[in-house]
Formats: sequence, structure tokens, C-alpha cells
Amino acid sequence: MSEVRVHRVQPAWKKNALIDNDTYLRWYGESVKNPDKFWGKHGKRIDWFKPYTKVKNTSFEGKVSIKWFEDGLTNVSYNCIDRHLKKRGNQTAIIWEGDNPYDDKKITYNELYEHVCRLANVMKKHGVKKGDRVTIYMPMIPEAAYAMLACTRIGAIHSIVFGGFSPDALAGRIVDCESTFVITADEGLRGGKSIPLKENTDKAIDIAAKHHVMVKDVLVVRRTGGKIGWAPGRDHWYHDEVRSVKPECKPEKMKAEDPLFILYTSGSTGKPKGVLHTTGGYLVYASMTHQYVFDYHDGDIYWCTADVGWVTGHSYIVYGPLANGATTLMFEGVPNYPSASRFWDVVDKHKVNIFYTAPTAIRALMGAGDEHVKKTSRKSLRVLGSVGEPINPEAWEWYYNVVGDKKVPIVDTWWQTETGGILITPLPGATDLKPGSATRPFFGVKPELVDNEGNVLDGAADGNLCITDSWPGQMRTVYGDHERFIQTYFATYKGKYFTGDGCRRDADGYYWITGRVDDVINVSGHRMGTAEVESALVSHDKVSEAAVVGYPHDIKGQGIYSYVTLMSGIEATEDLRKELVAHVRKEIGAIASPDKIQFAPGLPKTRSGKIMRRILRKIAEDDFGALGDTSTLADPAVVDDLVANRQNKR
Ligand code: WTA
Repeated sequence: MSEVRVHRVQPAWKKNALIDNDTYLRWYGESVKNPDKFWGKHGKRIDWFKPYTKVKNTSFEGKVSIKWFEDGLTNVSYNCIDRHLKKRGNQTAIIWEGDNPYDDKKITYNELYEHVCRLANVMKKHGVKKGDRVTIYMPMIPEAAYAMLACTRIGAIHSIVFGGFSPDALAGRIVDCESTFVITADEGLRGGKSIPLKENTDKAIDIAAKHHVMVKDVLVVRRTGGKIGWAPGRDHWYHDEVRSVKPECKPEKMKAEDPLFILYTSGSTGKPKGVLHTTGGYLVYASMTHQYVFDYHDGDIYWCTADVGWVTGHSYIVYGPLANGATTLMFEGVPNYPSASRFWDVVDKHKVNIFYTAPTAIRALMGAGDEHVKKTSRKSLRVLGSVGEPINPEAWEWYYNVVGDKKVPIVDTWWQTETGGILITPLPGATDLKPGSATRPFFGVKPELVDNEGNVLDGAADGNLCITDSWPGQMRTVYGDHERFIQTYFATYKGKYFTGDGCRRDADGYYWITGRVDDVINVSGHRMGTAEVESALVSHDKVSEAAVVGYPHDIKGQGIYSYVTLMSGIEATEDLRKELVAHVRKEIGAIASPDKIQFAPGLPKTRSGKIMRRILRKIAEDDFGALGDTSTLADPAVVDDLVANRQNKR
């Protein structure tokens, strides 16, 4: 392994930092020694209608029960809006930067209050009640944030579905949580191209109806003015509806453990699961991590480039920043439109201080050339962040040297949809940085590495990453399937939360995430279950069997490599390959498009019929010298054919 460079905390990073290294060590020690005391204190960072007297009540054993601040009453939209009005009613809450660089607007906290209250009243008018599930399928426009906050105001549970998902994927999510109210837009706009959100919604509603879930109301935001279908009685224009209701709506008093949102995410097996987060602990954790990880100070302009369709958008565009009274920038577009300078142009235009993005974007922009960065100033930047997948040291150094001009710390933040907020991360004024390492645990987080047999590994080691005790932002269950929650996260290593990630700890106690150890692949920072892509492929009538694995991809981190066995008599053609890619896009969405399809007369299976993915991964990586023992295969000869026809010859 090449020598690791260490970037020490610079004096300027420490100067006004909220947390220095001594404070980190002290707080961390306290947080793991006495979580009740630590979180009892920090839980007060949000406002409670009724203060909690109990702090932590959690168990990773048996039925697994996770409760934080359970007897407290609060409301998320109250904390993200109302409590700021006195001090910062006229401060910008959201800066919206449109797909088109000439399209932007600012929304103050006062305005946010009115938008959210009106929308909450519209939902009430249509009968949406506490505990009801509302599906949000939106572009990156302020109304997406209004919709989230309006749900929390009345105690409805939102389920946001990423706008890039197909009608089938949207339908599956509507059906799973039996959601009868949908908020969408006529069309989305990204990189100058429109996305037919309403048309997709219409199709999804028809599919859901076949599964006996009847969507009763669709609220439609006019974004592009494009032509759309309309079901009178069911469909309502957002702009019409919000006009006719009152601009105030009292926030519902919610129990800390009342559900806040569901977010579907991919796992190793089966359909995406509905990760359920609850109210109090989630908000405490999202706001606290947002403040300390990004060293957020009052008045900072903060920009996270994620989409609200992913957990990063939930915790670090909307809930964390707004709970802290921040100015959060919401970007509708893409990094390379109209040019590869777009991110840095936006940084200069709005004087962004804190910038948080994904390694895949960094790598793509690195490939576009330094001149796109260098012609911009970026003087306002104080903290840079990375999330979603391991960042390779080359991309890290480029981000540091070129984007940050060697003056700005990078926080490489490791976390998951399930964790609600950041778990392993540097703190800008405290942590010496090592490119490629997410460094050290956040307060209250107890990582542990175990081998495949579950033996705990001490000191410098390489293993499977578990977390041994609960933190307030942790998911509480899989919506409607608590048994699946237990099996997925707590059964592999008994009594521990298993993350699904591999990880190395070095001699300094720094953590290096090495990627998923399960059948999940991480494509451009988006999680994709190989099982989902396989079932999409097999649903095509010419396909008899499919196996999907990840392989290293320069920009995406991992690409999707599919082995496909066709029905007998079907010819393997280039056209069929295209047809299969289109089919997967239709079933799931563009993010699941296979990068490579290899037609394979047979797949390597054990005598008991289990597909040996290890072999398929090696062939996809073009590393077939190291196939290992193939003697246990039912038919070792299939491997020769797979190697001969591999699609990734170097
Ligand atoms: C990966 C995104 C390395 C990891 C917030 C995890 C990372 C999965 C990092 C969760 C990071 C996320 N370094 N790997 N800084 N951040 N991952 O649920 O494999 O979309 O398990 O949450 O992304 O993806 P998810």
C-alpha cells in the first residue's frame, strides 16, 4: 500500500472552530461512557413542547427496540421554522438555484412559514391526518422542502421517491406504505432536459390500483408548464389550492417516537425496504451533526448538492440545516450544465461557505480539467464535504488542492440511510486528515470490526463494520416488517448493528471504509441491490437467468455488470442488449442501467445450485487469474466461456 499523506489541522481551521481535538476527545469519551447524560444535555438543542425525562431506552437484542427521548413532545417543522422567526424571520432560509443559471430565488424564514402552513392546510382539507403516508415525487424545487415540512407539521409520514425512479418503482413504494396522497410536479428539469414526473405518477397510480392501493389525491406543482394529463377530482394544482387556505397552521404535538418519514433503500435481497425514522432523536442527531461536522456558524451559506430523494437531502439539505436556522442552498441542476464550472460558479454567485458533494461528481469534474475550477474564485469556501461512497485518494487530493486551494479541510462523512446522520467523520477544527479515510467516530458512536465468524478485532485490523450501541438518529424499524429489520441488521452479528460495509482501522484508530461486503453495489453514490437488477432482467420474456455484480468504474465508483442467460432459441444480438438496458430503465430507472451485459450460456453454480458470485466479480474485474478454487462447481467448463467472452478486457 502506498504511503498515506496526513494533512494536519491548519491553524486557520482551528481558530474559530466549534470543536478542537481536546474537546473532541473529551466529549467523545463522555458520550460513550454515559450516553444518557450526554444526550440528555444535547437533546435540548431542539425545542420540546413537553420536555423528556427519559433519554435512552434501546436494545439490540431479541426483538430490538430503539427509543430516544420517548416521553418528550415536539414538532419538526416547529423546530425548523417557527422557533427561528423572532430572530431570523427575514433571513434567507432557502436559496434556490435553478437548472438554468439565470433562474434563482431566495425564501426567508417568514416566507417558509407561510408556504408550509398553507400546504399543511391544503393537505388537511383533503383529509390527510397524523400517521397517514404521503408520497413526494418532486424535482429539486422549494416546494419539495415545503412538502416535507408540511407533512411534519401535521404529523403525516412522508415517503420521498427520487425523481429518477420509474413508474414501476414509484408504484412499488406507494403500494408498500399504502399511500393515497401524492405530491408531484408537471415535469422536472435537469441539465436542460425535462423529466415527465406527472406522466410517471399517472402510470404509477394505475399500477398501484392493480395492487388495490387507490391514490385519492395528487397535488401538482407547475414547474415547466409542459403538457400533462389530468384526472378531474383526483388531480389538483398546487398554486390554486394554497391560495384558498389560511396562512397559519398549528404544529401537531408529536411524540418523540412518532414516525417522521419512510425512505426506501436497497439491500442484498428482495424489494427495497422502507427505512423508518422517527421524530425527536432523528432531529437532534441531524441538527447536531450538521452543526459540528460542517463547523456551521450562524450566517454561513451552506450547500449540499444531493437530491432530496436520498437521505443526504433529507438530513443535510432540509432537516439539519433548517433546525439550525441556516441558509441552505437547493440546486435543481447537474454539475456539468451549462458547463463544468457550474458548481464553482454557484459557489461564487451565492458566496457559499460550506460545500458538500459526492465523490462521483468530484471524479467527473476532475476529468473535465482544472481550468473549469481555476477560472472561478471559490474564496468564500471554508469547509468541503464528501459523502456516498469511498473517495479515492487521487480525487481527495484534487478536491483539496484544486477546489480548496490547499486551504480548506475536507470532511469525508460515512453514514447510511439507516443511520439518519453522519457516524464516522473528521471535524474541521479537530481532526488531522488522511485522504480516503472517514477518520473517527462522531459523538456517541461505537464502531467495532468483526471477522466473518463474529470475533471482535482489536487494534489495526480489517473486518466487517458494526456499531455496538444506539445513537439517536438510528432507524427504528423497516416499515411494516420489524422482523426484516431484525434479520437484516441484527442477526448477522448478534446484539450488534451490522452496516453491510467492510472497513479497516489503522494504527491511529482511523477508519477506512472499503465498500459493501453484501450484494449491494454503489453506483455514483446510489445504492442498488444486485437482486433488484436481476429481477428486472429476468422479468424480460427473453431472459431465463441473470446475475449482477459490481466492477470498478472510473467515474461511478462501481458499474453494473450483468450476466444474462437467454431462453433457448433466442439469439444474442446487439439489439437485444440495448433492449435489456431499456427494460431495466423502465423497471427501475436510469440509475440501474447495466453498464455491461455479457450473454452467458451458463452461470457458475455450486452443486446445490448457488451462483458463485465471487467468480463473476473476478471476471467482471478482468482479474480471472485469481478465480480461486472452481472445483466445487457443478460444471467448471462454464467458467472458460465466461472468461473468453468477458466484456471488460483491459
Ligand atoms: C457508502 C448515503 C465510504 C457505504 C449517506 C454505505 C460511504 C452506503 C461513505 C450508504 C463514505 C456512504 N465513505 N463509503 N464517506 N458514505 N458510503 O444509504 O457503503 O445511500 O453503506 O447513504 O454508502 O448509502 P446510502
